[in-house]
Amino acid sequence: MNIIGGHASQLLAARVSELLKYKLLISEFKRFPDGEQYIRILDEFAGDSVTIIQSTVTDSDLVSLLLLIEACSEASELNVIIPYMGYARQDKRFKSGEPISAHAVARTVKADNIYTINIHDPDILDHFDGNAVNLDATPVIGKYIKNLVLVKPIIIAPDDGAIGLARNASRDLGLEYDYLEKTRLSGEEVTIQPKNLDVKGRDVIIIDDIISTGGTMAETISLLRKQGAHSVYAACVHPVLSNNAVLKLFRAGARGIIATDTIDKGVSVVSAAPVIAKAIK
Ligand code: R5P
Repeated sequence: MNIIGGHASQLLAARVSELLKYKLLISEFKRFPDGEQYIRILDEFAGDSVTIIQSTVTDSDLVSLLLLIEACSEASELNVIIPYMGYARQDKRFKSGEPISAHAVARTVKADNIYTINIHDPDILDHFDGNAVNLDATPVIGKYIKNLVLVKPIIIAPDDGAIGLARNASRDLGLEYDYLEKTRLSGEEVTIQPKNLDVKGRDVIIIDDIISTGGTMAETISLLRKQGAHSVYAACVHPVLSNNAVLKLFRAGARGIIATDTIDKGVSVVSAAPVIAKAIK
């Protein structure tokens, strides 16, 4: 088995190859003078099984993934791992005339097996051209939390959609978990309803699938701090962290940010590599 790390997921691909002792192929990434991408896999793999690992954070990452898939047309079997899939949050036609962007993107990806990690809506899996499976990285976040020194910890989801993340992260730790109620006012603005949670003097870990603008987390952190939480950590699988999200979280009173390397950022202190390795082994 060979592993190909796309431009956006080189470190994660290297970690998976290290865990499984699979060969990490070297690719070249360049641009033509007009800005179009040029990709070449420099190692031989024809007739072998190949796994491409590439998050699609930007449009360019998606094109890069499509080029890698085409370059692997001579592989005997092709697995594609999309640790973070962009456009997944436009999973409905919220207003008439809108595309279901997640379906449009999924339809472009053709492989024998496709794996996503905590994709925003698992229904998207039906739109890939291949056998698609969604993996769960919350237990590895849970393991990281277990090693923190915390006072009466509780894991809280900012909305009922994320309750499964809180439950799974806390499962092996035997920790208490709960959720709040969020209303989205705009792309950047949300309100979180106060709930009678006993957080006074306790350390809280808020967990969500994505931190993008940081609006959801910042509101939740402020609320829990006002309710007397001792310290509040913001945890997520996918640290999109657009614009000034990091500043917003710390200004709201976060003690720290805990995220995985589905997107490689300074806060990616937990690796999703064991989750991927277990799935493709
Ligand atoms: C929304 O349904 C997601 O689960 C996240 O809560 C959301 O994507 C976070 O976005 P932001 O950081 O922009 O509030």
